[in-house]
Amino acid sequence: MTKGPAVQKMFDDIAPNYDLMNRVMTMGQDQGWRRFVVKKAGDPGSGRVLDLATGTGDIAALMEKQYPGGHHLGADFSLNMLREARKRFADQLIEWQASDANNLPYKDNSFESVTFGYLLRNVDDSLVVLQEIYRVLKPGGRGVCLDTTPPAKNILYPFIRFYFRFGIPLLGRFIASDEAAYSYLTGSTMGFHKADELASIFEEAGFTGVEYKNFMMGTIGIHWGQK
Ligand SMILES: C[S@@+](CC[C@H](N)C(=O)[O-])C[C@H]1O[C@@H](n2cnc3c(N)ncnc32)[C@H](O)[C@@H]1O
Repeated sequence: MTKGPAVQKMFDDIAPNYDLMNRVMTMGQDQGWRRFVVKKAGDPGSGRVLDLATGTGDIAALMEKQYPGGHHLGADFSLNMLREARKRFADQLIEWQASDANNLPYKDNSFESVTFGYLLRNVDDSLVVLQEIYRVLKPGGRGVCLDTTPPAKNILYPFIRFYFRFGIPLLGRFIASDEAAYSYLTGSTMGFHKADELASIFEEAGFTGVEYKNFMMGTIGIHWGQK
């Protein structure tokens, strides 16, 4: 069975509390990582850029503020998340669209950059989605991925594991009234690719110049590469 329908329903349900939960759970650091994504995506000039799995629109909004000359598109398959994005950033020039990352409704070679925050952890096959992103990028275009990463087994591991197993679901229960959704976050992070494995999948999808940087004690990774 594919993850898609359950993931779509889960994000539809948590959409109203998603932003507050993000800020609390990451101790206010999440916007800094998104700004790093925007920097790596670079200036599109007057070209088109896509923020895929845009959710409530934070990366798309930061991109539009930073590079107002571009044509900005935010896409997601959760209509409730898109509704929040539209409401939050009504004063910015961003087009919001419903689309599934497995099968993008865009032509080959369409975008200067594609950013995607916390998408790959939620899909069945990261390679399929990365190949789809690669397809819609223009030659020379950049793909930039922000996601959680399974923590390395070092001295901090027991503390991080404790926070993931108990802290985050507890915050989910009180802030989002949805412990299950945030237990899913923990499970999907622990089962996700390690940062170097994900870099190899980027290369397998065709990207060159692939690099990554870890944040928050190695629990967050930002990967980027070029078509
Ligand atoms: C954790 S949220 C991240 C939102 C945003 N990128 C951010 O930085 O906060 C993950 C988003 O991915 C979307 N998503 C998951 N699988 C998807 C798919 N196959 N196609 C499109 N969107 C998807 C979900 O609906 C959700 O809005």
